[in-house]
Order: sequence, then structure tokens, then C-alpha cells
Amino acid sequence: MSTFKAPKGTYDLIPPDSATYLAVREAIAAPLRNSGYGYIETPGFENVELFARGVGESTDIVTKEMYTFETKGGDKLALRPEGTASVLRAALEANLHKAGNLPVKLWYSGSYYRYERPQKGRYRHFSQVGAEAIGAEDPALDAELIILADQAYRSLGLSDFRILLNSLGDKECRPVYRAALQDFLRGLDLDDDTRRRVDINPLRVLDDKRETVQKQLAGAPLLRDYLCDACKAYHEEVRTLLVAQGVSFEDDPRLVRGLDYYTRTTFEFVHDGLGSQSAVGGGGRYDGLSEMIGGPALPSVGWALGVDRTVLALQAEGIELRLPSTTSVFAVPLGEEARRVLFAKVTELRKVGIAADFSYGGKGLKAAMKAANRSGARYALVLGERDLAEGVVQLKEMESGEQTAIAVNEIVAELESRLG
Ligand code: HAM
Repeated sequence: MSTFKAPKGTYDLIPPDSATYLAVREAIAAPLRNSGYGYIETPGFENVELFARGVGESTDIVTKEMYTFETKGGDKLALRPEGTASVLRAALEANLHKAGNLPVKLWYSGSYYRYERPQKGRYRHFSQVGAEAIGAEDPALDAELIILADQAYRSLGLSDFRILLNSLGDKECRPVYRAALQDFLRGLDLDDDTRRRVDINPLRVLDDKRETVQKQLAGAPLLRDYLCDACKAYHEEVRTLLVAQGVSFEDDPRLVRGLDYYTRTTFEFVHDGLGSQSAVGGGGRYDGLSEMIGGPALPSVGWALGVDRTVLALQAEGIELRLPSTTSVFAVPLGEEARRVLFAKVTELRKVGIAADFSYGGKGLKAAMKAANRSGARYALVLGERDLAEGVVQLKEMESGEQTAIAVNEIVAELESRLG
């Protein structure tokens, strides 16, 4: 073991488990690719101001959880804590919204960083796959995204998750609600920190997990009762579309998200097997974010699903993904000349698309066959001195142990036909 360990709150993805992570990313991306979303990749760090303005000055993410640093050149940067602000920044910078084809639909996959207190399901480095639909106000777009996330989870075999749905109103009705909520909260018995939060970001108080606080919140005014007619109608249409597609959800009038840019539709996917870090994904509409970062008005909606937590959800449901076996053929050369011949065959097999591996390091037959076994290959190719002299190679079917001598120059064709 080396003297170094992975930093606190991080972990390494190592085979064989890492294959599950790749498969999860792929499963989330597939429905997006199938629905007109194009792939986007942005830098792992951005100007810190982008997140301060985008995610919100008073959010935990910005005040406590960002990895910020100053470069030698004096730039103030932050490791990205989330993807939406970056993706919108990139879309604006590239003028994608001016290409005359709105909404601009983008998906992404990558690493995100938050300096949080680590626990199961909560890491300082984690992985998301996300989608953003930029520049259109249409309830069908909100519904589309929720349906695609639902499809992604179902394609993985998950079923113990729930969709929580809410509307956070818009710049017309939310300020009215905010004031009413502040009035209510100021009448409660709260600690100083929470009182400050009431002033800056009262909606976040609804999300306080402490029982002493939750008990007092029972009679708090609900945004639902303050929505303006336009927000109400919009939300009703999103709900109707989801119901019509058979996607079940729960109305959660207390759902608030940890980022300030949301307007109208907000949702969270929670998994019931995960304990306290139960949100496997979340998102919503952010109609004002573009203007907040200096762009034109571009109503948008999106989500991000957590890859780490989705893997935990699979474990919680006891789901083992059926992953394509990696190696089909494992070559075992016995001797120098055999090594050259088999190495050429392995290269040839790989060229025709057959996954093949090789016994390296001059192992003897016993150790090499052990490696063949461990590789999970369906076939082993064994080439000894006598085989060489006869121009054949032994093709061994690993499961049955059945062995056949095949002419060396026919072995690739033989394996192609056997592996179909
Ligand atoms: P978020 O709810 O902050 O939203 O994160 C989305 C998902 O990322 C969470 O549901 C969770 O699965 C995962 N996640 C977040 N923090 C951690 C962590 N510390 N460890 C492990 N997993 C974590 C956003 O990030 C928004 N940008 C989503 C969005 C896109 N809204 C609109 N467009």
C-alpha cells in the first residue's frame, strides 16, 4: 500500500464495480440521446462568480460547499458544484440560442465537487448525468424531462423510487408568498442562524430537517395557495401530461431545492432504500437564470441524476445489472514461438471485434489457465510446442472443458462463427 489514500469524502471506481457505474451513466444517457439531446462538456472549474450568481449567494452550496481557489494569475475560480450554470454559460457563449432552434437540448456527464460532511451517499466528489432544455416555456418539455428520468431508472430495473413534484411559482407570485412565509416564520421560536435564514432565504427553512423546527412548521403557508393563475395553469398542464403518460408522482407542496434558480416546476426523485441521502436526482425550471448571469430571457428546464446514489439504489434493491462479459477469448501461449503466433491471433481477433486477452509474463499452463478462468472468457486458446509443429491450436470451451484442435489459420473464422 502506498502512503497516500483517496482524499476524505472521495472514493475510487475500480473493476469490477466500475463497470456498473459506466452502465448507469449509459442507461441515463440513452433516453436523452433518443430524444434530441446533444452532448455537451464544459470545464471542471468556472469563474466563482458564475455559481455565486447562478446557484445563489445564500445557498449552502455557495456559502459552505464550494471549492474555491485563486490561480497564480489572480483568477478566482471554483470547482463546479453543479452543471446547470456551466451549461447555460457555455450555450450563451456559443450563441446556441441564436441558431433559431429552441429549445437547445443538451446532456452531460461528469464529476462535481461539494465540500460537504461525507456520509453514505454524500461525497465531496460525485458524478452526475444531467440534461438541460434551454429557451422554451412549454409544460410538455418539463413533462418530457421527468418522463426520460423515469425511463432511465426503470431501464435499470429500479422501482422503489418516487417522484416528488411541486411548483415554486414565478417572479409574480413567489415574492408575495415569500413575504407571507416570512411573517409566519418570524412568529416562531427559532435559533439565530435560522432567523438569519428567514431574512435571506425563507423557503430554505421549510427544508430544515430538525424535528423541533419541523413541528413548528405544521401551519406554515404553502406556495400552492399563492400561485398566480399562469403558474397554476402551467403546473396543472405538467401534471396532466404526466398522468396521461402513466408516470406516477406525488404532489409535495413543501419540496424546496438547494439551489436558488428554480421557478415553477421543481421535482425530486427519491429512493426509499437509501436512508437520509435519499434524493437520487432532481431538477426543475429555471426561467430567470439566463438573465441572472447576464444573458437574454431564456426560460429553461433540466435535471441531474446522481450516478453514485443510483448505484446505491441498485444495491438497495438487490439489482445486479447484466453487463456484457468483457473478455470472450483468452490466449495461453506455451513458449516463445507460441507467444508470437498467438499474439498475432489475439490482435487479429480484436480487429474483427472479438474481445480477447492474453496470458502475459511467461506463465506456465496452470497459472495461465487460472487467469483465463478469472477473465470470464468463454474460450481459451492454448498453443503448445506439439500444436505448433502440427499447425493447430487447442480451442477449449471453458464451461464444458471440451477441447478441439483447430488449424491456426482457421481459428479466427472459427471463433467468429462460434461467437456469432
Ligand atoms: P442537485 O439536487 O443539487 O441538483 O443534485 C442532483 C443530484 O446529484 C442529487 O439528487 C444527488 O443524487 C446528486 N448529488 C448531489 N450532491 C451529492 C453529493 N455530495 N454526493 C453524492 N451525490 C450528490 C443539481 O445539481 C441541479 N444542477 C440539477 C438541475 C439541472 N436542475 C436543473 N437542471
